[in-house]
Order: sequence, then C-alpha cells, then structure tokens
Amino acid sequence: MQRLHLTHPVIQAPMAGGGDTPALVAAVSEAGGLGTIGAAYLSPQQILDAAAAVRAATTRPFGINLFAPLPAPQTPAEAEAAVAAVAPFCEELALPAPAMPNAPGKTFAEQVEAVLESGAGLFSVTFGLPGADVVAAVKAKGMLFAATATTVEEALAVEAAGADIVVAQGSEAGGHRGTFAAPFERAMIGTMALVPQVADVVSIPVVASGGIMDGRGIAAALALGASAVQMGTAFLTCAEAGIPEAYREAILSAKEDATRVTRAFSGRPARGIANRFMETIDAKGAILPFPLQNALTRPMRTAAAKAGRSEYLSLWAGQGVRLARRQGAAELMTRLAAETAEAIARLSSRKA
Ligand SMILES: Cc1cc2nc3c(=O)[nH]c(=O)nc-3n(C[C@H](O)[C@H](O)[C@H](O)COP(=O)(O)O)c2cc1C
Repeated sequence: MQRLHLTHPVIQAPMAGGGDTPALVAAVSEAGGLGTIGAAYLSPQQILDAAAAVRAATTRPFGINLFAPLPAPQTPAEAEAAVAAVAPFCEELALPAPAMPNAPGKTFAEQVEAVLESGAGLFSVTFGLPGADVVAAVKAKGMLFAATATTVEEALAVEAAGADIVVAQGSEAGGHRGTFAAPFERAMIGTMALVPQVADVVSIPVVASGGIMDGRGIAAALALGASAVQMGTAFLTCAEAGIPEAYREAILSAKEDATRVTRAFSGRPARGIANRFMETIDAKGAILPFPLQNALTRPMRTAAAKAGRSEYLSLWAGQGVRLARRQGAAELMTRLAAETAEAIARLSSRKA
C-alpha cells in the first residue's frame, strides 16, 4: 500500500474485454484504491492509449494486467463440431456463418514493451508466469509485479518467480480461472480457505480475490491474512464500467446460484452468469481451446452487445452477485471504506 500510495486496500480487478474503462481505472485510483487496466486483448498501441487516458485523468498509481504467454493451441479433433455448434447462434443474430479461427500471432513480448512504457505502478499477470527477463525488466522500471495463484503450490511458484504480490483467486471469482499448475477442477478452492493457507506459506503480501463485494468481505479478507483485496464484479455495475446495459442488468438481477464455470465462450474455464449459449455449448461439449474459441465467439458477442441480447454474452461475474450495487466508482470506494471500518469496529468491540 505504501509503495502504491494506496489509502484503501482495494484493487479494482483488471477486466479484459472493456469493462475496465480508463474512466473506471482512474476513478478507483483517484479514490485511493488501485485501478487496473486489463490489457490482455489490447494491441501495444491500445495499451499505450489506455494508459495515457488514465494518466490524463489521475496522477495516482494504476496497474496493468496481461495474460501470461500460453503454448500455441492445438486444433482438436472436434473442431468442426465446435464451429457448427456456434453457427445457429450466429444465424439467430443474422451474422455470417462462423469460420475456423486462426491462432493469433504471438504478441506478449510487444504488449510487455508497451506496459513498460505505460507509466503503470504495477504489472500483474494471470494464467501463469512470464519469463525471468520480463520480471527483471518490470522491476528495473520500478514497477511492482503481481501474479495470480489458485492453489498454495501456485502461490509458491509466484513467489519463487520474484513477484512482489500474490493474488489468491478463490473459486467464487468472476471471469477466467487463473489456474496454471493444476487441472482447473482441482484448483476450485474458496477464497475463505485459500487466502489463509497461502498467507501461511509465502512472505510476500497476499491479495484476496473472489466473491468480495463489500466492506464485510474486505474486513474478512484482512482477518484471513490478506493485505488487500482485488474486486471485479463489484466494479462492473459502476457507472464508469464499459459493459452493455444488458450485462449490468443480468448482474443486478442475479442470485448467488446464477453463475457457472464454463469453457463455452473462450475455451478456458471462466465463471459467468449461466445463459442459453453457455448451457447449449456446454451440453454439446465441442469447444475449441483458448484463445480459438474466444475468437470463434467474438463476432456473436459483439453483435449481441450492440443488440442488448444477454443470452449470447459472456456475463462474467462472481458468486457475490446479489451484493452488486449500481453507483459511481468513487461512491463505491467511499462506501467500501466506511463499511470496512464499521465491520472492523464491530468485531473489535466484541468480547473474545
Ligand atoms: C469481467 C471480468 C473480467 C476479468 N478479466 C481479468 C483479466 O483480464 N485479468 C485478470 O487477472 N483477472 C481478470 N478477472 C478476474 C479478476 O481478477 C478477479 O479474480 C475476480 O474478479 C474476483 O472475483 P469477483 O468478480 O467476485 O470480485 C476478470 C473478472 C471479471 C469479472
């Protein structure tokens, strides 16, 4: 918190795909938290532009996040079936029939170059770890380096890679699972169980992530040994978040049992609110590996966002959805601070 000049132990989770607009990132940083740009799907120029937009709106530190480089995806035997499964949904939206997507060119190294020039105070990754050269370059720039872990073993690997911070992502979390050293089903550990077990074995600060929506959750995470929290879903319903209104409505009306972990949209397990596309594709089971499935479903998701059709959107959200509130980011930050102080005061006044 000192190195990032934070007055609240709150990191707005990077949310690649557009939810985390520069306005949201800047508002959170301006309020004393750490806004983070989810830059995984951005080109180097887009990363520089997003960072410049944040810097124009705040002089306070902010973060940038990428997906760690993954091995090139192999096209599976059921590739034709995966494309065919998406076709009826494209037809419903009057889109051309989907074609087999190409693997994207390797861009991680160029993205990192842009991150190094971005002026961000923190660089974080999920899905694994970058090479030692990247970690060294980030540190040479004076930036902090953070990586996501979903098991204790992964947290130890994050620490061994030289990270300054480990983000312990519980199974409640919205969006993609950060798991990189285990089958994802084995790494579905709840935040309550994961955070203290990670805090017991690492000597770097732990950031708790997954299902934290209000000050009670922040106080609980601090009690479990976390130094701060990383919250995604809670910021998606802020006015500054760049998501379609249909997505915001889906979160605000969702109950705690509404989300599932699915590979249907991107090819990688991610938690979102169940809808017709997710259920149909999961039932068929023919899904391309990440990021090919992501590319395959992108035209459909883009059209659905324009048309306000939530049954085709990847509605990434965590299990805390009932606690989502519609407000501005500054207002949310003020409420979080007051609620955290109140929860801590309430607990402090209890007799042990
Ligand atoms: C819409 C959305 C997009 C996300 N994108 C990213 C991302 O690009 N990088 C990342 O490290 N985590 C990403 N996450 C996961 C968050 O970092 C975090 O683990 C999660 O939001 C915590 O759970 P919560 O949503 O219940 O707060 C995303 C989460 C959501 C909801």
